[in-house]
Formats: sequence, structure tokens, C-alpha cells
Amino acid sequence: MKAVILVGGEGTRLRPLTCNRPKPMIPVVNRPFLDHVLDYLKRHNIYDVILSMCYKPDVIEGYFGDGSHLGMNITYVVEKSPLGTAGGVKNVERYLDGPCFVFNGDILTDLDLNAMLQVHQERGATVSIALTPVEDPTAYGLVETDGTGRVLGFIEKPGWDRVTTNLINAGTYIIEKEVLRHVPADSYYMFEHGLFPSLVQRGDPVFGYPSSAYWIDIGTPEKYINVQRDLLVGKVAKAMPVGCLQEGVWLGDGCDISPMAKLTPPVVLGARVTVEANVSITGPVTIGDDCHIGPESVIEDAIIWQHTTIGAGVKMKRCVIARGCTVRDNAWITNNAIVADECEIGSGNRLEHGIKIWPNKVIEPNAITF
Ligand code: GTP
Repeated sequence: MKAVILVGGEGTRLRPLTCNRPKPMIPVVNRPFLDHVLDYLKRHNIYDVILSMCYKPDVIEGYFGDGSHLGMNITYVVEKSPLGTAGGVKNVERYLDGPCFVFNGDILTDLDLNAMLQVHQERGATVSIALTPVEDPTAYGLVETDGTGRVLGFIEKPGWDRVTTNLINAGTYIIEKEVLRHVPADSYYMFEHGLFPSLVQRGDPVFGYPSSAYWIDIGTPEKYINVQRDLLVGKVAKAMPVGCLQEGVWLGDGCDISPMAKLTPPVVLGARVTVEANVSITGPVTIGDDCHIGPESVIEDAIIWQHTTIGAGVKMKRCVIARGCTVRDNAWITNNAIVADECEIGSGNRLEHGIKIWPNKVIEPNAITF
């Protein structure tokens, strides 16, 4: 079976990390997020993938090429202007030859796709929508089903008085090709507010497929930090590479770690990372290739992308530092702060409370203090 992955969105909620790349190319444990999704598909024997694209498509195609090095066949289809989720699948219709899986490209799950397909076929469904339970249903689009799993309706971000289920659309579908007849060509059209409600109204067999499998989307900085943590602590089945130096510490080639540094798992370092004396790194932490961590720095629950240099005595806790940054001595970056590509954070700055530093910014020493 083929899979269509929707990767056309601008990822506005993840800015400034998505200023230079689309959301699926954000590194998660030092690999583009989409790489994890493709691995997941391969584990389900899905090798034929169509990427439905719009925002910065070249970044994705330049990295994955035709997919042959992964043993996959990747087809790229680019929209001239955003067509939405259903419009994005309609736009790749010519590559489909039967039922297909459709995935939002910002979701990580270990849902058993083969089991979902079997149930889809047994029910004779035209659409099956994976459903996942959430604690706060008021923030999502809810999917109401009857006792047989048939979808009765959709409720968008209800107040608590209208909450009838905790099951939400998990952004993973099986659709029969013929339902695309109901999607207007070359128009912006969504599954969630357009196609699915109209199919339900017509009486088509649209079914929900509830599951308690791991599920997260990386749509916001907080969730992006969380997905990394979940991978590192092993919450997602089969998602981490095997083989590490000691339990929970992964080192790339050519790393140079001072014997006076302390690494507390789970920690992943890319290739050629240098860590100086008296550094303390307490996982979950991932550090990309060619980074340097200066002496006496303390890093905890943080994500650092490639080619970034951290000075001496820096404190980092629950934050993201993107590619090619320089963080000068004694700066503190904590509490969901995000620093985008190629920034320089001068010494003594205190970045906290979800502050976002846009790409290529130079923050003078001691300029920001909360
Ligand atoms: P935000 O701007 O932060 O809401 O992110 P987003 O643009 O990715 O939107 P959203 O998270 O709602 O999108 C869900 C999935 O659909 C993501 O994988 C998007 O890449 C994808 N998507 C959203 N809009 C389009 C579109 O117009 N075309 C295509 N091909 N994919 C889309």
C-alpha cells in the first residue's frame, strides 16, 4: 500500500525553528523528524511514499532524494499555493491506485498500521480515522462514534459542557481512492472541516479507529521538546537506535569527552562533539554534530542542533538552541526558551519563559535579563 504524507504546512506555531526549514526537517534526536516517520512506515512494509508539499519543498527533496538509499520510493508533489489537507491528497491522486494511508507529517506514533488496515477492510470503510485519547479534549477536534465505531460527527474545540468524548483525530487515515471524487481540484479543502463531515452527512461508511498507542504531534515548541524526551526514555516502540556506550548514552564518531565531564542518561551526542572539563549534561539531552561545550557548563533537558558552540559556565535547562549558534560564557537559557539558527547570545544573558530569538540575531552581553 502507498502512503501519502502531508508536509506542506508552514509550521507557524514552531517558528522561529521553521523559518529556514519545514517542520518535518526539524531534527529530532539528530535526524530530521521525517526520517523517523519513514522508519516507522518501513517497519510496516510501506516503501512507496508520496510527499504532498508546499512550504520549502526543496529542503526535503534535497535531503531525501528519490529515497533509494533508504530502500524506499519517494515521489514529490508540490502545490503552487496551499491546498489544505484534503486538497493536498487530491493533488497527488494520479499517483494512487487504490486505498492508501494518509499521515499528517508532524505526528509520531507507534500505532499498528497493519491492524488498522485489517479492521478498515473488515468494516468495508471508505475512510478510517485513527483516534487517540487526550486529557484536555477542549483544545482539539473531537470525533464522535457509535458503538460500532462509525463516525457520527465532529466537534471542533468544544467547551467542557459539550465534551462527549476524549477521542481526537490522530492525523492518520486510510482512505479509499474514490472518496477523492468529493474533493474539489486545485482548491483549498480540509479533511477535518470539509471532506469527512460531508461524507458522514452522505451516510458513507466513515469509521474511527481508537487506539492507546503512543501519539504526539510536534506542532509546538513544548511538544517538540517532549517528543525528544519520549524517544530518549523509550516511550515509543522501536524508535531509537540500538548500541550505546553505556546504558542511555549514545556517542557519534570522533567525540572528545573530558574525563572530568559527567553525562547522565539519556544523552545523545552527534559526531565530533567536544565536551570540556566539569561539564554536567543531564538527560534528556541531544547535541548535534560538531558542537563544542565549554568548561563548567550545566545542560539539562535541552536540545542543541549542529555546529553550535557553548561557552564556559553556561546554564541551559529545557530549551532549544538551533544550528550554528554561539552562546557566550555564563549565559542562562532556560524554561522553554528557543534560539533559532545562527544567533549569537552574548555573555551573561538570561533567556527564559518561552522567549524566542529569531535567526541571525546578535544579543549583546547582559542585554536580556528576566
Ligand atoms: P501550524 O502553522 O503551526 O498550524 O502548522 P502546519 O502549517 O503544519 O498546520 P497543521 O499542523 O494544522 O498541519 C497538519 C499537517 O498537514 C502537517 O503535516 C502539515 O504539513 C500538513 N499541511 C497543512 N496544510 C497543508 C497544505 O496546505 N498542503 C499540504 N500538502 N499539507 C498541509
